Amino acid sequence: MKSIALRRYPFTSCRPPASPQVLDFLAPSTLRQPSCRGFKTTSVTPFWGKSQDSSQQTTTPAPKPKYVLSQKQREFLDSALRVNQAGELAATLIYTAQTPQVVRSHPHLRPLMKHMYDQEAGHLSTFNQMVAKHRVRPTAMYPVWEVAATFLGWSTAAMGREAAMACTEAVETEIGSHYNDQVREILSWQAEAESRGEELDDELKNMLTTFRRIRDEELEHLDHAVENDAKEARPYDPLVNVIRFGCKAAIKISEKV
Ligand SMILES: [Fe+2]
Ligand SMILES: [Fe+2]
Repeated sequence: MKSIALRRYPFTSCRPPASPQVLDFLAPSTLRQPSCRGFKTTSVTPFWGKSQDSSQQTTTPAPKPKYVLSQKQREFLDSALRVNQAGELAATLIYTAQTPQVVRSHPHLRPLMKHMYDQEAGHLSTFNQMVAKHRVRPTAMYPVWEVAATFLGWSTAAMGREAAMACTEAVETEIGSHYNDQVREILSWQAEAESRGEELDDELKNMLTTFRRIRDEELEHLDHAVENDAKEARPYDPLVNVIRFGCKAAIKISEKV
């Protein structure tokens, strides 16, 4: 038993260097990996100092190897972050354009409109940070989405409170299901990692938690919209269908462009 422990210890604390591909997406956490030079000072010294009676030794479990993303998976995350940033930009602009008109005729909706806007602003800030951190290219359609989202917000609010709420219902239906697809995809990577005895990088675990939280907040907006008579908008079906079609098209375009 002793010879096994002597052989294993340096290898488990000295991992092979990460490939440039890994550094590209997960640079911050990968760069914090301990180097091979570090094991002499912290890990090995207590080991030699302990009793040679193996029954008295306490062993800490070796950390699981990290799951390494494939090129296709990194491209998926690039697209996801690009789309999410564009979507959150659009959401803030829709509420910015809707709020003055909605609140003027329905002052009791001011706290709700502010609450939803504040959450969208928080989402946008989160994705702005992620896009910068992981060096993802923002969509080239950014200026087009700015104009389109402002027009969508202004025109639906001009149609009335119900149409403004129907707009939120339509947008959140598409965005909520889009976040759900992203969560499901990362969970499939997690399952694959566990089947190999590996674990996701902390950065990816945090991303999964963030996507879940934001998805839940978007679905909460959808509920608020329905509670506030989104279904009473006239004409409901054409309006919602057109907005949902526009959202799907914007998502597809932003994934690539
Ligand atoms: Fe959002
Ligand atoms: Fe939302």
